[in-house]
Amino acid sequence: MLQDRRILLIVSGGIAAYKTLELVRRLRERGASLCSIMTAAAHHFVTPLSLASLSENKVYSELFSLTQESEMGHIRLSREAELIVVAPASADLLARMALGLASDLATATLLAADKPILVAPAMNAMMWAHPATQANLATLEGRGVIRVGPGAGELACGEVGAGRMAEPGEILAAIEAFFSRSQLLKGRKALVTSGPTREPIDPVRYLSNRSSGKQGHAIAAALAAAGAKTVLVSGPTAEPDPAGVTVVPVETAAEMLRSCEGSLPVDVAVMAAAVSDWAIAAVAPQKLKKTESGAPRLSLVENPDILASIAGRASGRPPLVIGFAAETQNLLENARSKRARKGCDWILANDVSAERGTFGGDSNRITLVRADGIEEWPEMTKREVGQRLAERIAAALAEESRSPSGARKPL
Ligand code: CTP
Repeated sequence: MLQDRRILLIVSGGIAAYKTLELVRRLRERGASLCSIMTAAAHHFVTPLSLASLSENKVYSELFSLTQESEMGHIRLSREAELIVVAPASADLLARMALGLASDLATATLLAADKPILVAPAMNAMMWAHPATQANLATLEGRGVIRVGPGAGELACGEVGAGRMAEPGEILAAIEAFFSRSQLLKGRKALVTSGPTREPIDPVRYLSNRSSGKQGHAIAAALAAAGAKTVLVSGPTAEPDPAGVTVVPVETAAEMLRSCEGSLPVDVAVMAAAVSDWAIAAVAPQKLKKTESGAPRLSLVENPDILASIAGRASGRPPLVIGFAAETQNLLENARSKRARKGCDWILANDVSAERGTFGGDSNRITLVRADGIEEWPEMTKREVGQRLAERIAAALAEESRSPSGARKPL
């Protein structure tokens, strides 16, 4: 399962570092190849010799070491790995990662990394609970960093609480899950839309909506993590670009449609953007001024329906086209008729009534509407929705590839 998988292991300072040695032993048993970096603090807890012996490979720790840099530059360390595992990840290292510091080999490598990162935090319970640590974690997870643990229990400092590094078996399971997930959509291409669109009124004003882009970005991140070559066409959002995704920034619905069409062909298109239904008929070339005659009258024209247009293509229609139905009432009924009206294969229906806090929030409750029935998902984070959707997409595309051509089952 992990045979020949290339992992870069970063060990920071913490009592839990002794458990990392066990993790290394088990990774090697499974055939993974490991290269390691130790922070200065890690040297107080384990020795480079024990790590080098168990990993059967070099251990690096100096950023400015002539011998180490000439052997293997810090940039190459991450380039040659498929996954970076930080275990233990101390509060200090997490903070430096969140800030983007590059003051030693570990942080410089992490900052220059273009690979997925998995962290196993380990620290005192108060340090873990501190808002600074929690904010750092949220930042890192928002950038796609995967976290395993920490667990709760008796800590090395004698206190009891959350902060114990996950056990080697749990970290191993998370690493295996990462590698199996990363194969799901290998060789596939995906297109995702996200965020709101902005329809200009004049050079300084626009018509838009409250979409945060969190769900669309999480879907793009999950598809990329599952191995799909993913293009994300997004309106303006505050979300960071998901790792491994090609982001195409757009403003208006017309630009979004053009960029989507330019990204075809793809195996799957997921339209999660909250496209403004209307644009201003005649955009004022200069800023509109207040006049004696009162407020200006804005005349609207309908925007192109991107989902319907991609789903209705005579040639180059993606085999799987998925839309969202943002509803405030009659969720299922509206979602079903939206699916039929837009000609897409699946609809992810979600309740966006103000009291549910879906717009801008971190969680979502989805009902997946397909031709052959519905699937109700429990309330989960937008990231989890992305992961579950990636699994469903992988299963449907695999099924589609198996069925003889011409006998295509409705997806
Ligand atoms: N959509 C689109 N282009 C548009 C409008 C919507 O691609 N111009 C897509 C959205 O990305 C989403 C789906 O259509 O996947 C449904 O969006 P929603 O806002 O729920 O539906 P509307 O078409 O706007 O219908 P209504 O406002 O009448 O519910």
